[in-house]
Amino acid sequence: MKKIKIGILFGVVGLWACGPDFTEAGLGTEIPFTPNRPTLPEGEAVEPYTGGDPYVVGAQERFRTGLDVHRKIVWRTCTPNDGVCHNQKEYPDLHTPANFVAAINAPCNVQPGEPASVYDRCERPGDRFRLNRDDFGAGIEVAWIQNISGEETTDEEEITRESQGFHVELRAPIPGDNDEIWAQAQFIRTTDNDGDIVFAQFETRWRVLEDRKHLVGEVRNYQNERAAELARVGIREGDANRNGIFGADENPIVPMINPGNPEESYLIARVRGEMLGERVPGSRMPLANQPLDISEMLALFCYIEGIPTDGNVDLASAVDYKNCSYSEDPGSLNLLGEGVTWSSRVSKILEANCGGCHNSVNPDADLDLLSESAYERLLEPSTQKPELNLVVPGDYENSYLWHKIAGDPDIVGLPMPYNPLTGEGSLTQAELGDIQTWIANGAQKDQ
Ligand code: HEC
Repeated sequence: MKKIKIGILFGVVGLWACGPDFTEAGLGTEIPFTPNRPTLPEGEAVEPYTGGDPYVVGAQERFRTGLDVHRKIVWRTCTPNDGVCHNQKEYPDLHTPANFVAAINAPCNVQPGEPASVYDRCERPGDRFRLNRDDFGAGIEVAWIQNISGEETTDEEEITRESQGFHVELRAPIPGDNDEIWAQAQFIRTTDNDGDIVFAQFETRWRVLEDRKHLVGEVRNYQNERAAELARVGIREGDANRNGIFGADENPIVPMINPGNPEESYLIARVRGEMLGERVPGSRMPLANQPLDISEMLALFCYIEGIPTDGNVDLASAVDYKNCSYSEDPGSLNLLGEGVTWSSRVSKILEANCGGCHNSVNPDADLDLLSESAYERLLEPSTQKPELNLVVPGDYENSYLWHKIAGDPDIVGLPMPYNPLTGEGSLTQAELGDIQTWIANGAQKDQ
């Protein structure tokens, strides 16, 4: 420290006298510098788990604190194809520990314009739509909106749900009996602090269709940009997935991370593909990446279970595996999700893609994947590499079946599924992901 100060002093004097003299200032030579970095708080001590379950022991070794959980698990679900958490609004950026903490009690997002990826329990109350001309009162909740671009429509043409224009589906019919209204449409949001705010408007001819809940706003060529802009301003849709359910009516919105309640945390649901037994739309996380293993999932579950309900959490504090309710027998809990089971998915993938050759009559490589005992057979050694079993529950890296289907060059014979016509072939990413998740999750026969 001292040396630096002296150096600066010399530097200043030198500058004054005859321009900067870096040698004299001590620059370029070694400067002893002890960065005074803050040390992380130790966090509250928790008693360690002392039982013998290997998944819990493994989790405790690898993911001691909330910071470990973030850095080694959550961060990994975002990489390496950097887009997953970054670009998708439905799965917010969780790259930094601060963002991870901010996800506690934060509502899950919905990505506008992607109805298929919206979970009902993420839908928020919609903004309201009002035609400025008539007595619409406070307006009517927007179910969903869509801007359909295409040929400019002429006056004579019949307007349908597929026509070009700015479409608005409302929750309730609009009053009156006009089926054409020239008016300025307003989009209104009620805010906590400022009450009702008109945050977007669009003036045009509105055609009222069918049940009067559906309107098509005419978009003339010169209005194209304006309409596209309107679709982008983030109008909140009460029924963004267009399934007739206004999610905000049913239940409180699911938080990204729900303190004390991992099973109703959207982050966990997106990894498992389900919440409370109900399928959660959208692609399963981590996308195109190694699925989490049971210890990783257990760490996430126990970490979230241990967050106090006020959300006030110290990432540096240790995860309490000892008192975690999921530490009992994590291997049997199917923490990675119900979706991928032997009977519902894996046996079907194998039957459809492999059964032609690995059949019961004359199985190639003496591997019958169609018989009743196919599952038991998979737990036995490979004939090609007898030192490896075909499937090792919990460990796809040592499962020879995985080597054969995942493009590992270090196999005997050809990659599977072998296609005799083209000489190659492979399963889809989704099929591979399911088989990998199933093995990682303990390759159970059925739950
Ligand atoms: C067109 C026929 C054909 C199809 C389809 C096929 N296989 Fe094979 N499989 C073979 C043949 C032939 C061998 C032995 C030669 C080789 O490995 O190249 C074999 C070998 C194997 C082996 C090695 C067995 C051992 O005990 O070491 C595994 C594992 C395997 N296949 C899995 C699969 C899976 C999984 C699928 C479907 C995703 C599949 N195969 C689809 C013909 C096929």
